[in-house]
Amino acid sequence: MNRRKEIVSRLIPHTTGAVLDSATAFAPVNIALAKYWGKRDIELHLPVTDSLSVALSVGTTTTLYQNTHQDVIELNGSPVAESSPFFQRLTQFLDLVRPSPSFRFRIVTHNDVPTAAGLASSASGFAALTLSLNRFFQWNLSAESLSCLARLGSGSACRSIFPGFVLWQKGDRDDGMDSHGIALPFSWPELKLGILMASSTEKPISSSLAMKRTVETSPLYSIWPSVLEKDLRELLETLETKDFSRFGSSLERNALTMHATMHTASPPICYWLEETVHYLHTVWHAREQGLQIFATMDAGPNVKILFLASDELHVRSLFPQMMEIPLRS
Ligand code: DP6
Repeated sequence: MNRRKEIVSRLIPHTTGAVLDSATAFAPVNIALAKYWGKRDIELHLPVTDSLSVALSVGTTTTLYQNTHQDVIELNGSPVAESSPFFQRLTQFLDLVRPSPSFRFRIVTHNDVPTAAGLASSASGFAALTLSLNRFFQWNLSAESLSCLARLGSGSACRSIFPGFVLWQKGDRDDGMDSHGIALPFSWPELKLGILMASSTEKPISSSLAMKRTVETSPLYSIWPSVLEKDLRELLETLETKDFSRFGSSLERNALTMHATMHTASPPICYWLEETVHYLHTVWHAREQGLQIFATMDAGPNVKILFLASDELHVRSLFPQMMEIPLRS
């Protein structure tokens, strides 16, 4: 038995309950404030460091049915080709949990993320699939076990099992049983998030490959764990104190350091486009003028900005094209 399958067999009880006719679940998109960047175990998606995210109100809703001969996947109302990487990735994940090798699924999945937001996320997708599997097979798994299972689909999916602010503790065990999300008891209703689109085309290199190349070749990667630790500590402190200026500085520095590690990989990886740099300069200039606004970017060119509700009108006048997405806290 391969390692992933062996771990799944320990996560899921042997006595699985009856299969329902169908089961549906929703999982939110999450935005990392302290980033997951680099794996200590590629096969199990075990991270080098902890990370911290906040969930959005948008995400993925997935319904599962049993099917007769083959797996069938529908995404946003259209069938997904068997040859596509998306289909392959999902069915490989399903291979880990099929009750018998011939068991087949029909999966109907819908992203309510506006396509134009460029947030089409494997994290909410694998989390929604995991939650619907849990209902479908009536496993009654704990949130921690669900988070470990979702991680085997995509690392950041382990955070999308929960709403609100989520800490993914890296864990120390080789089998990853202690590497899962934890819901944090913070709420910050005044916190707002907006998306500035630079491009909605597919990214040139996947985050998995980009982090692997960064870990292997960037001379800056050695400082990443200590930077992350400091930024994460400050973010957790400021979630308590609601010191937005310190909170924003930490999350922006964390994103910029992550991108600096990629820019110095060999060959270099740069997701930024001209528009990305333009948005960043606009944010920094506005901050010099006194506006409390901070930016973060993931493995893509789009910029997410964080600000407080009291500054919303000002931020909207600065970025009329901004798409505001409510947080799910
Ligand atoms: C930059 O979770 O997509 O968004 O584990 O290989 O599937 P895999 O990677 P993934 O990486 C996300 C990286 C990031 C930062 C973050 O979300 O923490």
